[in-house]
Amino acid sequence: KTIDSLGDLRGKRVLVRSDFNVPLDGTTITDDGRIRAALPTLTRLADAGARVVVLAHLGRPKGAPDPQYSLAPVAARLGELLGQDVPLAQDLVGPSAKATVDALADGQVALLENVRFDARETSKVDAERAELAGELAQFADAFVSDGFGVVHRKQASVYDIAQVLPAAAGDLVLNEVESLSKATGDPERPYAVVLGGSKVSDKLGVIANLLTKADRLLIGGGMVFTFLAAKGLSVGNSLLENDQIETVKGYLATAESNGVEIVLPVDIVAADSFAADAAHRVVAADAIPDGTMGLDIGPESGKLFAGKLADAKTIAWNGPMGVFEFEAFADGTKAVAQGIIEATTAGGFSIVGGGDSAAAVRVLGFDEAGFSHISTGGGASLELLEGKELPGLTVLAD
Ligand code: 3PG
Repeated sequence: KTIDSLGDLRGKRVLVRSDFNVPLDGTTITDDGRIRAALPTLTRLADAGARVVVLAHLGRPKGAPDPQYSLAPVAARLGELLGQDVPLAQDLVGPSAKATVDALADGQVALLENVRFDARETSKVDAERAELAGELAQFADAFVSDGFGVVHRKQASVYDIAQVLPAAAGDLVLNEVESLSKATGDPERPYAVVLGGSKVSDKLGVIANLLTKADRLLIGGGMVFTFLAAKGLSVGNSLLENDQIETVKGYLATAESNGVEIVLPVDIVAADSFAADAAHRVVAADAIPDGTMGLDIGPESGKLFAGKLADAKTIAWNGPMGVFEFEAFADGTKAVAQGIIEATTAGGFSIVGGGDSAAAVRVLGFDEAGFSHISTGGGASLELLEGKELPGLTVLAD
C-alpha cells in the first residue's frame, strides 16, 4: 500500500519510521545520506497537511536512555534540510512525546527520541513489542514505513506498529524495493556482483544465493583473505576467518560447477600495521609477506575488476575493497566505483548497497548520479539480495 491509500491526511497525525542510523563523530554527522533520503516522504506528508511524527533509532543502545545515542544531532540536521524547526521529544511514549505531538501544527515535523531507548522495541517477545506499538499508536492516525534500512528487523516501530494502524510504504521504501528487484528478480545479464567488507561470515547467505544467480562475483575487502587462504595461499597478518575456510572452499567448488566466475585480486597493498600512515607496498596476491597485512586490493586488481564490470548489464556492489577511510588504502574502492560508473554510462543498471559502500561513494567524492541506485540499506539490501522475505515489507503487503 502506498501513501495515497491513506486518503486525505490534512490534520492527521502520521507516524513515520525512518532510518536515521547515521555515522557520527562525537555529535557531528559524518554522512547525512540517510537523512536526505528521507526528505521526499517527509516533505510530501507535510505538504499534504499531515502532522508528522518521526520514529528512528541510532546505534544499538541497551534498551534504556543513553545520551551518546540521542537523536539530537539528527533533529538539528533534519530541521536544516527541511527548512523548519524539528522539535525532538525527550522520550518515546512519555509525557514529552505526548506534549510534542499535541503541539504539532498541520505540516509540521517532530522527532521522538531513539526508539531503542525502550527495551520493548527490539524484544523477542511478541507481546512486549505489541505493547509498545499500542502505546505509539495513541499518537497517530496512520503509519508510514519509510526506513528501508530497518525493514529486515522484526521490531515494534517497523513491524508491530503496521498491524495496529492503517499502514503504507513510503516513497523511499517503494523506490528501494523497485530498484533492488532489478537484481533479485530476473537480472539483465551479464550480472556482476562486487562484494567487500571485512567478514565472510556476514555475507554467507548472500554468497550462497549469488552462486545460483550471478554470472561474476568479484571479491575484495577484508573477506578476500579467507578466499585466498581457501586457495592455499598465505595471507600474513591479514584479516582471516579460519573457521570459514572450509565454507569458502565449498563456494569455490559450487561456483565452478554452476559456471559462476569468481574473480579474486591478483595484487594486494600490504601494510606493516593497521594505520593511516603505515608503511606499505604492492605485492602479488600469492606473495603476501609474513608480518604484513593486506589493507586494499592492488592497482592491477583494480583494472581487472573494472574490466570485469565493463560489459555488465546489472551490477550490485556491497562493501568497500579496502580501508578507504585511510587515503593510502582507498584506491581499490575508487577503481571499483569508477568501473561501475563507466559500466552505468554504457547502459548497465548499478546498485550500491550497504552503509559502507554508499558512504564510500560520498566520502571519496564520487557523483551519486553516476550510479543507478544507491541503497540506504545495509543489512536490509543484503537480505533482499539473499532472496529473503523481510518482515517490515511482508507486514505492509498483508
Ligand atoms: C543499519 O544501519 O543497517 C540499519 O539502521 C539497521 O541497524 P541495526 O543493524 O542496528 O538494526
